[in-house]
Parts: sequence; structure tokens; C-alpha cells
Amino acid sequence: MEVIILESAQAASELAARLVARRVRELPECTLGLATGGTPKALYAELIRMHHDEGLDFKRVTTFNLDEYLGIPGDHPGSYRREMQKGLFDHLNIPSDRTHLLDGSTHDPIAECAAFENRIQRAGGIDLQLLGIGGDGHIGFNEPTSSLASRTRIKTLTRETRMSHAGHFGGEANVPPHVLTMGIGTILEAEEQVLLAFGESKADAIAATVEGPVTAYVPASCLQMHKNVRIFLDEGAASKLKRARYYRETFAGKPDWQRV
Ligand code: F6R
Repeated sequence: MEVIILESAQAASELAARLVARRVRELPECTLGLATGGTPKALYAELIRMHHDEGLDFKRVTTFNLDEYLGIPGDHPGSYRREMQKGLFDHLNIPSDRTHLLDGSTHDPIAECAAFENRIQRAGGIDLQLLGIGGDGHIGFNEPTSSLASRTRIKTLTRETRMSHAGHFGGEANVPPHVLTMGIGTILEAEEQVLLAFGESKADAIAATVEGPVTAYVPASCLQMHKNVRIFLDEGAASKLKRARYYRETFAGKPDWQRV
């Protein structure tokens, strides 16, 4: 696990975007796992800039998103399909049939989740998975106590998560209580993991993820079991790490061949 602490969320997002861009250049047919929410927005803006200014080509890239609210259509203002469409897909040249999100309007969530897992398998698995993290340590919508072996399935959101996502729904009461999410077992199968966290509200979750025990109570701590993980932080999100100095020294002393 490599912990990269930079002076700002913008600097960390730009560096993480370079990692994604490198993957796309080296493997134009790569499969990316994507996250929604506030955290990856600056990274997506940087990918869009690279597409326009540097010709970064996404036409053979395939994407799978982590999660979606259950019970709303893809054109609902709160849906993750809409967020991804407006925030990223509309600005890149990924063919729309290569962008996969769980269908929140499905009447058969179990079949939808199984079909999603099959689509990931048929695509050859996910090469690089982007992750944000909740204040309680959730990744995707795997809330605390989610099985570390879980597959794509229905989950119930905690009150805290509904509150933090209330913005797009005009209040917590309107946030759907249920979601479809990749499982922790599904996420861990991606070849490379890139987790971003910004701001002090994420500091406890990051400290528990990086320096606490592996536990279903902090779902992101599962990343300690993965062999290829980078965690990009700003100062706020890193503020409760006991070994921050060591992570900074390690990053500063990287040999050139290991740099992003
Ligand atoms: C969303 C997702 C969630 C978010 C997390 C943090 O696809 O996977 O785990 O990453 O809720 O949300 P933000 O980034 O809005 O703080």
C-alpha cells in the first residue's frame, strides 16, 4: 500500500489522473472501475483536459461504475448514471455501450447484479479501480460490516451516508434507502486500486483504513490485503495518520522508474 500525501486535493487528483492516463496509453483497451461523488470530480476534469489537449483516447476503454441507487431511473437528478454522463462520459469519446452502470430502475435487482458481475468477467476483469471513501470507511456502498467476500448486491444505506448524499435529492428523506453496489470481493479482484480522499472529514476513515486492523467494520481496510494499492490524500485527509512522515519520505525518495 503506497500512501501519497500532497499539498492539495487538486495536486493529488492531477497525479492520480496521470496514473489513469498511463494505464489508458499503455493498454488502450483497458477496463476502468469508476466512482461517483465529490471526490473524483477534479480527477475527471483532468482526464477531460488530457483528452482535449493531449489527445488521450478513450475509444476502446470500457468502464464499470461501483454503485447506483435502487428505485430511480438513469435520468433522475440523483442517479449516478446521470452524474457520470454529465460529469465525464459526455466529454470523452468512450462509446456509450462500453460504459456500464447498474440499472437502478430494475424490477429484478438480483438478476441485474448477477448480469453486472458477468459483464465484468466478460470484459476480462477491471484493470484499474478508482475509489472514494465514506467517513465511516465505506467503499462503493459497502457500509460497515459488509462481508469482505461480498459480490455485487443490494445494500441498505446508513443514515449517515443518506445524510451526506442528500444534496442531489432535495433532503435526506428523499435519498433512496437501498442501493446496488459492487461487493468488496468484486472490488478486490481489480488489478490495481486507486483510492482518493480529501478533507478532514475523511481523516478518521483513512487512519483506520491504512493503520488499523483489517475489519469489515471499516470496509476500505480490505485494501491492506491487495497487492497494488495507491492512496492519494490531501493534508486534511492525512491529518490523523501516525506514520505520515514515513509515507512522505518514502514518496519523496522514490527512484525515477517508480514514479507516476
Ligand atoms: C460512490 C462511492 C462512494 C463514495 C463515498 C464518498 O460511487 O463509491 O463510496 O466514494 O461515499 O463520497 P464523496 O466523494 O462524495 O465524499
